[in-house]
Amino acid sequence: MEKISIQHSSDSNSSRNNRIVEVQKIDIESHQEVSLRPSVWEEYIGQEKIKKNLKVFIEASKKRQECLDHILFFGPPGLGKTTLSHIIANEMQSSIKITAAPMIEKAGDLAAILTNLNEGDILFIDEIHRLSPAIEEILYPAMEDFRLDIIIGSGPAAQTLKIDLPHFTLIGATTRAGMLSNPLRDRFGMNFRLQFYESIELAQIILAAASKLGKTLSQVAANEIAKRSRGTPRIALRLLRRVRDFADVKGEENISLECAQYALNELGVNEFGFDELDLRYLEILAESRGKPIGLNTIAAAMSEDEVTIEDVIEPYLLANGYLERTAKGRIATFKTYELLKISFFENRGLF
Ligand SMILES: Nc1ncnc2c1ncn2[C@@H]1O[C@H](COP(=O)(O)OP(=O)(O)O)[C@@H](O)[C@H]1O
Ligand SMILES: [Mg+2]
Repeated sequence: MEKISIQHSSDSNSSRNNRIVEVQKIDIESHQEVSLRPSVWEEYIGQEKIKKNLKVFIEASKKRQECLDHILFFGPPGLGKTTLSHIIANEMQSSIKITAAPMIEKAGDLAAILTNLNEGDILFIDEIHRLSPAIEEILYPAMEDFRLDIIIGSGPAAQTLKIDLPHFTLIGATTRAGMLSNPLRDRFGMNFRLQFYESIELAQIILAAASKLGKTLSQVAANEIAKRSRGTPRIALRLLRRVRDFADVKGEENISLECAQYALNELGVNEFGFDELDLRYLEILAESRGKPIGLNTIAAAMSEDEVTIEDVIEPYLLANGYLERTAKGRIATFKTYELLKISFFENRGLF
């Protein structure tokens, strides 16, 4: 019984459905992403420190003819965790099995996945922070000693059956490092936090993808799309595709800056990459004039769930200084008031 499959996140959340700057994959994008997904280091732009370290670890383990140590990637969605895992598999000439924590419900699911691995395989578990404690327990000996402990029966008659597993590398990906249990985190030999990308890097990704799509665009047009992509390759590629649609309709061979700007404005993405959802979030913060607001209050005001706000909206705003997180709640920063052209002191007037 094959339990391994790719999970498509089909989050059908109210206002996020048509969000152009959505960081999660939209279903039809899955195959488009695969065709644009870099499979070698040269095509993977940015995250230089991570690349440098991984290259060393890969070379060393190849020299020793050993499996790579278990790896944990964390960072907001769309920054290239899955892509990195594919490149690692490619470099190690290993096959990669892909699954996601929500698909591993029972102990038997994980046992089936593990016993189906071959020596040297890579097992990729997405959203690894969502594994249940019972499943984690099974994973520990598997990660540490490549052993599966199965308990048969219950009470005093219970017996533990030990099964040897092939040596494999577990790659875990998570948007929430804080939600991972300590014992699980400790069992990864390497930990990498992915950073938001610089505009210059995103422009490079956009230019490379455009040529794969058989379209040319000017450097300034690429810069314009990059600037509005919230530091996220997934968004950059989506905006590129939409801009290309506009260019195709206009019959433009070479995408110009004007065309890119026009398309992006039409799509409702402002020059910082913020859309209505971000602006609504920031307005709610700013309206409290410095009083911290709890996540649940914001979620209620926006009719969004807390996870969406924490995973999708906040990371980019936080990384760019539009919000501070304190023990008492969220606070807008000076930059927020400036952006919204709201005065901190008055009840709505301009500066
Ligand atoms: N460093 C990069 N260079 C080029 N393309 C990238 C890079 N990182 C991500 N991408 C592209 O962005 C898309 C989303 O990346 P993905 O690995 O699926 O993100 P994550 O798993 O972190 O959510 C992929 O289609 C990939 O082509
Ligand atoms: Mg992924």
